[in-house]
Amino acid sequence: MARRKRRRSQTPCASAVGGPSNRALKVSTYGSSVSTKSQSFTRSTWPSQTRSYRESHLGPGKGKSYDEDLRDRTAAKGLEWIVEQQLLASILDRMSASSEWSFADFACGTGRILEFISAKIPTAVGIDISPEMLGLARARCPWATLIQGDVTADPALAPGPFDLITAFRFFLNAEPTLRSQVLTWMRMALRQGGWVVANFHRNPASLRGTYLRARTSRATRPAMMSVSEACEMLKVHGFTPRQVVGYSFLPYRRDGRKQLAPSVRRAVETRLAGNRALLPAAGSFIVVSSLD
Ligand SMILES: C[S@@+](CC[C@H](N)C(=O)[O-])C[C@H]1O[C@@H](n2cnc3c(N)ncnc32)[C@H](O)[C@@H]1O
Repeated sequence: MARRKRRRSQTPCASAVGGPSNRALKVSTYGSSVSTKSQSFTRSTWPSQTRSYRESHLGPGKGKSYDEDLRDRTAAKGLEWIVEQQLLASILDRMSASSEWSFADFACGTGRILEFISAKIPTAVGIDISPEMLGLARARCPWATLIQGDVTADPALAPGPFDLITAFRFFLNAEPTLRSQVLTWMRMALRQGGWVVANFHRNPASLRGTYLRARTSRATRPAMMSVSEACEMLKVHGFTPRQVVGYSFLPYRRDGRKQLAPSVRRAVETRLAGNRALLPAAGSFIVVSSLD
């Protein structure tokens, strides 16, 4: 407890990058375009489904196939991961992430974000509901505390307080109620002045999103979220979006493992990642928010 208190009072977050007057993180890129309408969680961006996203990765073999795509530098997901590492490194630098911080990766899956960030923040907790996904995370991050369970049902599993909570490839596909429950837990588990870093990977205004909207009916369309919808969701739950970075601009094939000219794609995507002018058309984006 004493250690926790010391860490919290020493953390550079609040003074260095926290608060509305923060200069280290640029407050921009979406500004006035953030919608105040709360239509973001309606059927227009959420296809009907019968089961909760909680069950999505419980099937046998899920962990292995998920991991294979992410590690394949020629696959769409593997390519995104290369770019995400570049963006995450700069986000952590700009928020002056410290080795004194405590960090939780919510829905950590097979542990890629957990492994990457815990190189900088060793006090790391991974949380996931799927034993198989968590098994791979355990092999990858033996130093981390791994929690199998649902913090939305039992917040005491991971009460925090954390300086940083990440959630990658989660919010878009989670049903609205689950999104809301997770954000409520995050608000409880995050310390004041702490950060949430979340990504969203199907922007309706991107080339791929435009193609999908043209080719699918509302009933069959996969979930999509725009930058303003994602920011609005975070705001509704008490977070202040501070920075949005876009990436993944080129359309990709449905079977993400068979990209044409993967090395050219890699060069283009790496070059364009984070370009502010192109943010509205980014296929994926990361939102950095604070709890003030
Ligand atoms: C697409 S994976 C993302 C994994 C990881 N964040 C990444 O980006 O590689 C989504 C993960 O969310 C987990 N999940 C779904 N509902 C959850 C819940 N209520 N609590 C914790 N994890 C959950 C699934 O088990 C799955 O591992």
